Amino acid sequence: MKALEGVKVLDFTHVQSGPTCTQLLAWFGADVIKVERPGVGDATRKQLIDKPGADSLYFTMLNHNKRSIEINSKNEIGKEVLTKLIETCDVLVENFAPGALDRMGFSWENIQKINPRIIVASVKGFGPGKYEDCKVYENVAQCAGGSASTTGFLDGPPVVTGAQIGDSGTGLHLALGILAALFQREKTGKGQKVLAPMQDGVINLCRVKLRDQQRLETGPLTEYSQYGEGIEFGDATPRAGNDSGGGQPGRILKCKGWETDPNAYTYFITQAAVWEKICDVIGKPEWKTDPDFATPKARLPRLNQIFGTIEDWTMTKTKFEVMEICNPHDIPVGPILSMKEIAEDEGLRKTGTIVEVDHPERGKYLTVGCPIKMSDSPVEVTRSPLLGEHTVEILSQVLGYSGDELKRVVASGAVGDTEKVAAE
Ligand code: COA
Repeated sequence: MKALEGVKVLDFTHVQSGPTCTQLLAWFGADVIKVERPGVGDATRKQLIDKPGADSLYFTMLNHNKRSIEINSKNEIGKEVLTKLIETCDVLVENFAPGALDRMGFSWENIQKINPRIIVASVKGFGPGKYEDCKVYENVAQCAGGSASTTGFLDGPPVVTGAQIGDSGTGLHLALGILAALFQREKTGKGQKVLAPMQDGVINLCRVKLRDQQRLETGPLTEYSQYGEGIEFGDATPRAGNDSGGGQPGRILKCKGWETDPNAYTYFITQAAVWEKICDVIGKPEWKTDPDFATPKARLPRLNQIFGTIEDWTMTKTKFEVMEICNPHDIPVGPILSMKEIAEDEGLRKTGTIVEVDHPERGKYLTVGCPIKMSDSPVEVTRSPLLGEHTVEILSQVLGYSGDELKRVVASGAVGDTEKVAAE
């Protein structure tokens, strides 16, 4: 038994944001039926190819545990098949450019007429307003959502982050909306529209930066490095380098080997509660009683001096030694892990966060498993489907097409290459 067993999802998503959402639903046990354009499929199947002829890692890593059906949604028989899928599914998820679903003839009003219980969940770049018709990719959302303007160093340009907060982040938001809508449907019997705009998702994740925007009105942001450096604040939340976003100052500091290893660094937080222990660990016991260092307020203008001294100590240790020494004292530190280190981490493999999957075209590869662990709904990551791998299975088993009816649909070419599908 899985949490979403029995829930059928019509997955009209592509690229990253929508597929992240439907992959999660599949991991929670939903039957996710991915609709793809005949002969082409999700554009990411053939993007960033590393093994000629095989589906890319970009595609495989976002589409596990799904079934694939090829349907031409602009063809009359294709629309007939889609209509039947809408009738039978609980959720339709899509992240087409604004208006694309309407142009196919599947407006919210039409979908509701076909199945009033269905939940229609969409990712768009922007919510209603002047940018609602724009096409949007990850970095556009990071920029329009306030992330880029607050990331990077004060003396440099805005910076986008490696974490895909616009795409995968919005996929997560959408999944949450879908689950809430399914829960509400239990009481009302009705479906609803769920919209997760990427800009809104990024803004949600940048909440603390809007907090700081308002704090600026009453004075400088004293926990930012620039305060101690005597650099004046402007009228907008500035880029804060690696300063901690919370009330406990933190920085990224060099560790042993930093000269040759780009990831020989640690994050170090000078949490007030363990300040005295930090003083002992770094060999500065006199700071415990020195009025310039003894209180959090006194330390704020001296963060560069403090972190410089801590770094003199961290540079004598590897990032893992820093962790081993600091952890027993409850001093919050974290090694800067490279993707190579994450890929090789035994612990992450044991918990199913890093998973090895076998694929008929590409052989074994690593992926990120379900980051949410449920005690009664275990996740087994299975490979992504080949293009149209389940077309016949879905037409016959889910939609009940058989005999001449099935032949008619296949012969129309609306569900993929006629000869190939007929052979199946
Ligand atoms: N059969 C026939 N046509 C299909 C089809 C199918 N199975 N699936 C898609 N199409 C058509 C669409 O109907 C659309 O046609 P139209 O423009 O004539 O109406 C066309 O394919 C292209 O769809 P679109 O969504 O515009 O793709 P794109 O590659 O041009 O744009 C995005 C890609 C991501 C920029 C755009 O989809 C978008 O902005 N999505 C919302 C925001 C988002 O999710 N962005 C992040 C992606 S990770």
